[in-house]
Amino acid sequence: MLCFACNNEQEGMMKCTNCLKARYCRTERQREDWKRHKTFCEMSVDQTLVLVHKIKEVLQIKNSFKGLFSTYYWGNVPAVDLLNLSMDEGEEYSNPLALLLCGVGDPRNVLLSIASLPDVYTQQVSFVLNDICPCTLARIVLLLYMLYKGGDNIFHAMIRIWYSVCISEEDFVLLTSSLRDLATTNELRSLTKGVMEISAEQMEQLRSVWTAWLRLSEREGPWVSNERKMVFSADRPEVQIGLSRYLDTIPKPHRNSAKKYFDTGIFPSTANPTEELTR
Ligand SMILES: C[S@@+](CC[C@H](N)C(=O)[O-])C[C@H]1O[C@@H](n2cnc3c(N)ncnc32)[C@H](O)[C@@H]1O
Ligand SMILES: [Zn+2]
Ligand SMILES: [Zn+2]
Repeated sequence: MLCFACNNEQEGMMKCTNCLKARYCRTERQREDWKRHKTFCEMSVDQTLVLVHKIKEVLQIKNSFKGLFSTYYWGNVPAVDLLNLSMDEGEEYSNPLALLLCGVGDPRNVLLSIASLPDVYTQQVSFVLNDICPCTLARIVLLLYMLYKGGDNIFHAMIRIWYSVCISEEDFVLLTSSLRDLATTNELRSLTKGVMEISAEQMEQLRSVWTAWLRLSEREGPWVSNERKMVFSADRPEVQIGLSRYLDTIPKPHRNSAKKYFDTGIFPSTANPTEELTR
């Protein structure tokens, strides 16, 4: 980590106690840098809170799932609250927390862990997300960036984009504009007011993935659904067996809609079921 003022690198740097993000090698450096850092500092705190409220509001974990070990979401395994403060350290726990997620795969656990934090928790939780696969990491950063960038309905749009082979024109515009932002920025930190950060070297890797996705977005025809049909085709019995096993684990009330989803690959919007799917 580099000192925000002089770019020195050293162990155990001091953090700005307001944003908890700026780091300094010495107190004097921090004092000298305050005039410059102030705007970023305030914006970073504001943006972090906006993001946290967005996540909490939409998932509304506290009321509906109190005390549950896991919450059912789509995916190969249910998402879990990685911290589970209320069951482990206790609702009153208020120390900073830092989590390293190796081979994170997708960010559902991160979102659920943030959403499950008790309201009394006022410290910083930071997540370091690691995955060996650049496409997986590019997807994680894209989804989290869309969440950061999007408006009130962003959660629903994000879920549709994540799961559906067919999305609305509006979702498509959000997706491609987010991809363009990411592919053309040099610094994720300034783009997201310090909410997200990535090393320059990794950014370079992910940029090539985002650029490839942007190119694919110009490809005409229903090629995504065709490829999906091939993957789930009847002459692949191992896939069919896996699929029926998967459906068996789904709570009965949701099983029919899950089956329908696997047949079509379309995850319709519950907020706006009449919405036109164009892409
Ligand atoms: C089955 S997923 C598990 C995802 C997540 N841990 C979960 O429980 O939802 C495995 C993930 O680990 C990643 N992975 C595999 N080998 C890895 C390695 N050596 N270092 C980092 N990530 C790795 C894969 O790219 C993939 O995203
Ligand atoms: Zn310094
Ligand atoms: Zn600060």
